[in-house]
Amino acid sequence: MSRNIQDVLKECESRLSGVDSPRLSAELLAAHALGCSRLTLNLERGRVLTDDEYAVVTALAARREKGEPVAYILGSREFYGLDFAVSPAVLIPRPETEHIVEAVEAAFSKGQAFRFADLGTGSGILAVTIAVLFPEARGVAVDISPKALAVARANAHAHNVAERIEFIQADFTRETVEGQFDLVVSNPPYVSEPEFAAASREVTAFEPTGALVSGPDGLDHIRAMLPGVAAMLKPGGRFFMEIGYDQAKMITSIIIDKYALFEEVGVQKDLAGHDRVVSAQKK
Ligand SMILES: C[S@@+](CC[C@H](N)C(=O)[O-])C[C@H]1O[C@@H](n2cnc3c(N)ncnc32)[C@H](O)[C@@H]1O
Repeated sequence: MSRNIQDVLKECESRLSGVDSPRLSAELLAAHALGCSRLTLNLERGRVLTDDEYAVVTALAARREKGEPVAYILGSREFYGLDFAVSPAVLIPRPETEHIVEAVEAAFSKGQAFRFADLGTGSGILAVTIAVLFPEARGVAVDISPKALAVARANAHAHNVAERIEFIQADFTRETVEGQFDLVVSNPPYVSEPEFAAASREVTAFEPTGALVSGPDGLDHIRAMLPGVAAMLKPGGRFFMEIGYDQAKMITSIIIDKYALFEEVGVQKDLAGHDRVVSAQKK
């Protein structure tokens, strides 16, 4: 039976009706399987697929139908205009995290030579993007997971910044990273246990729990990391951390009440208008 691209997209879309964004998923998976862009897919709707091509597209759709996120099936996700390899060992990069990079771009100038640390680097999106945007910057990328560090290292190599990033396996809630830094960024685990229990299956069944969950109120990692952050920063050093939409008050109170050496404690919102990034500067 001959099937053109349009037929296959329709078939996949209907098969994926139980997951988020069925049409987009179908297009992304078909484009990946056929080695073309979504634009080409749409321009060549009448092209007939070979049996092998059809088999590859439907195999990918079958994975998606079971809830597997598109990024894990494709093995990549875009962040800040750059392509990052991802595996089930790392959190899928989220667009909200781009606000940390925007904050860094506002705080440092392009040619500035500074030292940064990325705590909980996962796929390496923050460390690698900062190294790409600031060619004179050097830094460390820390994660507790060796598998995540392997993905981050591969991404640093792919973007030609590996020689400016040191990858360190450490627990940032217990160990203070050696060195003095001008910038610390982090997107730590900040999902509370009850929130995780109510999250979608796409998240709970596929993404690494250790990258997401942080105790009963979501703040275990943040509380434990702050002494290390305070110690790592040089005077005048900047700190930008992603937070949950309802955590700004609790976190800014902790910083203001317990860390007199921080000033300029602030909160930036994401595009949806939710509190998303906490910032602070060491005096
Ligand atoms: C929310 S993910 C963020 C990943 C990546 N920075 C991003 O924005 O997509 C948190 C990361 O912190 C790491 N992590 C969790 N607990 C840690 C700990 N105690 N010490 C170091 N890394 C930790 C996880 O392995 C995960 O890669």
